[in-house]
Amino acid sequence: MFSRIKSPQQLIAESGADLEGHGLKRTMGLFQLVCFGVGAIVGTGIFVGLADSVAEAGPAVVVSFVLAAITCVFTAFSFAELGGAIPVSGSSYSFAYASLGERAAFLVGWCLLLEYGVSVSAVAVGWSQYLDELLHSLTGLRLPEALAAGPAEGGVINLPAVVVILMAATLLVRGVRESARATAAMAVLKIGILIVFCAIGFSAFEAGHLSPFATEGMAGITAGASVAFFSYIGFDAITTAGEEVKNPRRNIPLAILICIGLVTVLYCAVALAAIGALGADEVAGKPAALSLVVDQVTGSSVGGGVIAFGAVVAIASVVLAVMYGQTRILMAMSRDGLMPRILERVSPRTSTPVANTWIVAAVFAVPAAFAPLDVVVDLTTIGTLAIMAVVNLAVMVLRRREPGLGRSFKVPLYPLSPVLGIGFCLYLIWGTGWRTWLVFACFLVVGAVLYAVYGRRHSRLALTPAADAAGRAAGGA
Ligand code: ALA
Repeated sequence: MFSRIKSPQQLIAESGADLEGHGLKRTMGLFQLVCFGVGAIVGTGIFVGLADSVAEAGPAVVVSFVLAAITCVFTAFSFAELGGAIPVSGSSYSFAYASLGERAAFLVGWCLLLEYGVSVSAVAVGWSQYLDELLHSLTGLRLPEALAAGPAEGGVINLPAVVVILMAATLLVRGVRESARATAAMAVLKIGILIVFCAIGFSAFEAGHLSPFATEGMAGITAGASVAFFSYIGFDAITTAGEEVKNPRRNIPLAILICIGLVTVLYCAVALAAIGALGADEVAGKPAALSLVVDQVTGSSVGGGVIAFGAVVAIASVVLAVMYGQTRILMAMSRDGLMPRILERVSPRTSTPVANTWIVAAVFAVPAAFAPLDVVVDLTTIGTLAIMAVVNLAVMVLRRREPGLGRSFKVPLYPLSPVLGIGFCLYLIWGTGWRTWLVFACFLVVGAVLYAVYGRRHSRLALTPAADAAGRAAGGA
C-alpha cells in the first residue's frame, strides 16, 4: 500500500531544522507567525465569497462559517501535531512523504496545485471585482465588462485578474517577498477594514433580516459551508514556514489555533453585519458585496471606496503570498525528482526560481482570465479538503509508525479528532456537488498517471537504498 517513505528524521536532517545556524534563519516569533497566517487566510473568501455563501445558505450562512471552522479546527489539530513534530518547510507534502509514502506525497503535491495554483486564479478574480469597485468610486466609471469578466460571466476575458498575476510574478522573480513588517501591516489592515465594516453594518442592523433564518435548509447550509471553507484556506501555510520559526514546536500549533479562532469570530461578525444591514437577498451573489453594503448603509460611495481600496491591497498580498507558496512547493517536488528539474532552477542573477515563477503565472493566468469564480473556488476547495483528509490520516499513521517521535503538541481526544477531521472534510466535499467531484476525479487520475510515468522513475529517493528498503518494509507491513 505504501510507496517509498522519507522518514521524519531524514526530512528534519535535510532541512537542518533542529540545528541553529543551519538552513534558513529562525526569525519569526508567535506574533509574526499569526500575522503571516492572517495574511494567507483573509482575502477573496470573505471579501467576495461571502456573497456566494449567502446565495447558498441565506441568513444561516453564519452556521456555514461555523461548520467550515469546525472542519478546520479538527484538521488544524492534526497540522499542529505534524508541524510541531516535523518542523520543515514542505507542509502537507512533507507530512505525506513521511507517513503515507511517495505516491501519496505526489498526489498531495498535485492537489496543492489546486490549493495554491488554482486559488491564485480565484483570488485574482476576486481582486478584479474590487478594482472595478475602487475605480467606480474614484471616477464614476466602470471597467468595460468584456475585459473585466470571463465568458461565463458575460465578458470575454478577465484582464485585471491576469494583470495582478503578472505583477505578482514580476515581483517574485525580482526576489521581492513581503518583509515581516509588510506582512504584519497587511494583516492589521485587513482586520482593521473588516472591523470598520462590522461597525458600519451593525449600525444599521435589523433583527428582522435574520428571520426566517435557515431559508435554504440543511442542504443550503452544507453547500454554503463548502463555499465558506475557501475563506479559511491558508492556515496551513503557517506550517510551510517551519524552518524560519523560533521555537517551532510551541509556536506553530499555537499560531494555527489563534488564527482560526480569530478569523472565525471575524467572519461570523462580518456575515451578521452584512445580512443584518441589508438582508440576505440584497447580498446574495453580488460582486464586491462588502462595498455595496457600506455604500447602501452610508448613502455615499466614499465608504465603499475605502473598503474597496483595502480589499484591493489586501487581496493583492494574498496573490503574492499564495503564488510564492506554489513556486516553493514545486521547487521542493522538483528537488525530490518528482517534477521536471526546470522548476528547481534558481537564476544566479536574482537568486529566485525565474522559470518556475513564469510557468506558474502563465498556467494559472488562464483560469483567472476565462473561468467563472465559483468553478475555481470549488476546485480549490475540493483539492484542499482532500489534502486535509490526508493530513488527518497521516497523524494516525505516524502515531503507529513513529510512536517515539518528539511531539510538542498532540491532537486532543485522539483518535476521535482526526477521525472527525476526515469526516468533516468528506462532508464538505459532498457539499461541492457532483460536477466538482467529477473534475476532481479526472484531475487525480491525471496525477496518478504522471506519477507512474514520470515521478516514480525520476524520484531521487529511489537512489537512496536505505529509503527504498524502508519503503519496501512499510509496503509489506
Ligand atoms: N483564504 C484565502 C482567501 O480567502 C484563499 O482569499
